[in-house]
Amino acid sequence: MQCLYNKKMKILVTGGLGFIGSHTVVELQNEGFEVIAIDNLSNSSIDVLDGIERITGKKPLFENIDLRNKSAVENFFSKHQDISGVIHFAASKAVGESVENPLLYYENNVNSLVYLLQELQKKPEAHFIFSSSCTVYGQAEKMPITESAPIQTAMSPYGNTKQIGEEIITDVAKVTNINSILLRYFNPIGAHPSAEIGELPLGVPQNLVPFITQTAIGLREKLSVFGNDYPTPDGTAIRDYIHVVDLAKAHVIALQRLLNKQNSEKVETFNLGTGTGSSVLEVINAFEKVSNQKLNYQIVGRREGDVIEAYANTDKANTILGWKAQSTLEEALKSAWKWENKIRNK
Ligand code: WQD
Repeated sequence: MQCLYNKKMKILVTGGLGFIGSHTVVELQNEGFEVIAIDNLSNSSIDVLDGIERITGKKPLFENIDLRNKSAVENFFSKHQDISGVIHFAASKAVGESVENPLLYYENNVNSLVYLLQELQKKPEAHFIFSSSCTVYGQAEKMPITESAPIQTAMSPYGNTKQIGEEIITDVAKVTNINSILLRYFNPIGAHPSAEIGELPLGVPQNLVPFITQTAIGLREKLSVFGNDYPTPDGTAIRDYIHVVDLAKAHVIALQRLLNKQNSEKVETFNLGTGTGSSVLEVINAFEKVSNQKLNYQIVGRREGDVIEAYANTDKANTILGWKAQSTLEEALKSAWKWENKIRNK
């Protein structure tokens, strides 16, 4: 594919020190882009910059910016007029917390997006990648889930902020020169194979895989499996677990599509998953295999708001983006386990 852009272009990654953000910074640098990461460090560590440098040999530019601060966003963009693309990860993402504290989520996830877009609309043209989620589908009727599956009423304020974000971007695209791609992630798991960066959940992990690895390493006494009475083969809920490096690579490909002006619409949407569903028990069994140790778990009641199953139809990303997840569930779990051992100095 002819490259219509100068690879030395500067790309802004918001939430660039976070789980998916940091892995995407690595892949952008691998592709030769200059990266500036911003993060308010509310759910990440400044040490991630060193981890990125140990992988790529280059520390990205970094500024501690809180996107809820409109003037800080304005000042940032007036200082960095040469930003060619934005990949927007910065957001709060804990489903349960969003139910307890909805205004934190609406302020952080929606206001930040508005302030970002207000700056991008000032540019002659802008290229914007938005971190969305399969949560917008709720419990989809049909598996695997395609991008044309109906958007259902959000099951949490977190999910609602993703739906609202997509709607804002779509409305803004109609009257500005902002070209966007919405990436709907399924379940990101794992860590960079170098174990120099990975997931750093603060406090008690909400998500399955970090809870598994923390239980296996002895930080947690046991894993609670939220329900085994679902209408699935083994009774536990099914999800599409995708390696975070596969996910990161998809962001670079999506950005290159916009920079190369290959997008067919002002707003394009892609599901990012493996296309394979795995149940909670299947994840546990796969983890026990790769870690070669038994996991201590108990079956408890269902968690409020969980869907029965969600896994992606990846045809659109495969054919239009030319992207396909490469890692297996076992490989992703192995990288998560290697990372857990690294950060606990085991
Ligand atoms: C996966 C499965 C749980 C923990 C959410 C958001 C999504 C994205 C990823 C941010 C479910 C079960 C979990 C545990 C368990 N968020 N589980 N015991 O809920 O599918 O997706 O996180 O990017 O947008 O919706 O992910 O990892 O929390 O749960 O049994 O201690 O594991 O019930 O079936 P989820 P999850």
